[in-house]
Amino acid sequence: MKKNILLLPGDGIGPEVIDQAVKVIKIVSEKFNHNFNFLYADIGHQAILKKSDPLPKETINLLNHADAILFGAIGDPYYDNNPQLKIRPEQGLLKLRKILGLYANLRPIKVYNSISNLSPLKKELIKDVDFIVIRELIGGIYFGKKGRDKNKAFDLCEYKKDEIIRIGKVAFELAKKRKKKVTLVDKANVLETSRLWRETIQNLSKEYPDIQLEMMFVDNASMQIIKKPKNFDVVLTENMFGDILTDEASVIAGSIGLLPSASIGEKIALYEPIHGSFPKATGKDIANPIGAILSSAMMFEYSFNLTKESKIIEDAVKKALEKGFGTYDINKKEKFYKCSEFGDIICKIIKNY
Ligand code: IPM
Ligand code: MG
Repeated sequence: MKKNILLLPGDGIGPEVIDQAVKVIKIVSEKFNHNFNFLYADIGHQAILKKSDPLPKETINLLNHADAILFGAIGDPYYDNNPQLKIRPEQGLLKLRKILGLYANLRPIKVYNSISNLSPLKKELIKDVDFIVIRELIGGIYFGKKGRDKNKAFDLCEYKKDEIIRIGKVAFELAKKRKKKVTLVDKANVLETSRLWRETIQNLSKEYPDIQLEMMFVDNASMQIIKKPKNFDVVLTENMFGDILTDEASVIAGSIGLLPSASIGEKIALYEPIHGSFPKATGKDIANPIGAILSSAMMFEYSFNLTKESKIIEDAVKKALEKGFGTYDINKKEKFYKCSEFGDIICKIIKNY
């Protein structure tokens, strides 16, 4: 198979973890005789420094040549401490999501039993946890009208029925292949948009009689995700709730560095670890590349339909953790491996597979 993969390493630890994912993709492509060509472009703080634009036109132009995108991270503390700045790195990612129509963000939460001691939750609560959050990604309060005058500001949350149906279908279809349960998370006791979500998803569920639909308010869901994570299979929710709940859910697995994601939509899809730019670790070669590596596994599965290749990457990660290999966040006390070393370990396992 011949494909163009656009790399957007971005800010912070993004470039370091993307390097590891690229190594892994190269090994897999050697093994299976694929021909992957890598394109590269700027985004985020790094792009602002070079071009004064978090999503420069050179980057947008490359989108037409790509079959899939592998994204690292975005953000820099400079902007967080200066809220008055008009140009921000995050705008690059948000605009990219919008341009590509990436309406469905898939964030799997899986516990590796071999490192379940890292989780702050009790072992018996999290053993074999395996659920996926489907977050709507290009609507709601993130993209509604915003305004500001001296002593007042607003962000409008709006959803159209079509947008809810479109993402609802992704959730139900995915549930068919899993444990056949969808949990809709909303705030329908307060928000009008949530009531539209609830009504629309209830109607849609009639087309999926084999799938159980559960509905939960977001405040309760934030509690249940920690109290009974095994209760969930497919969690469906709007943009902002999904942003918050997936950071919370990442704690279950023991390290946010472990988790990948896929953003899919109308055109090409984008894959990224969920951890963010992690400024304190930048340039030290200590970040955990697993989120990026597993994001490439998701790319093989969802964009290229190469399930065997995807599975091998997932297995290699599992094996490495079982053998006690891990980066600083996993193996602080015992010997920990550098980000680049861990990438090499995964490559070696795949090579000898
Ligand atoms: C995420 C991030 C982004 C978001 C930021 C960087 C804009 O937190 O992907 O979860 O809020 O969507
Ligand atoms: Mg987030």
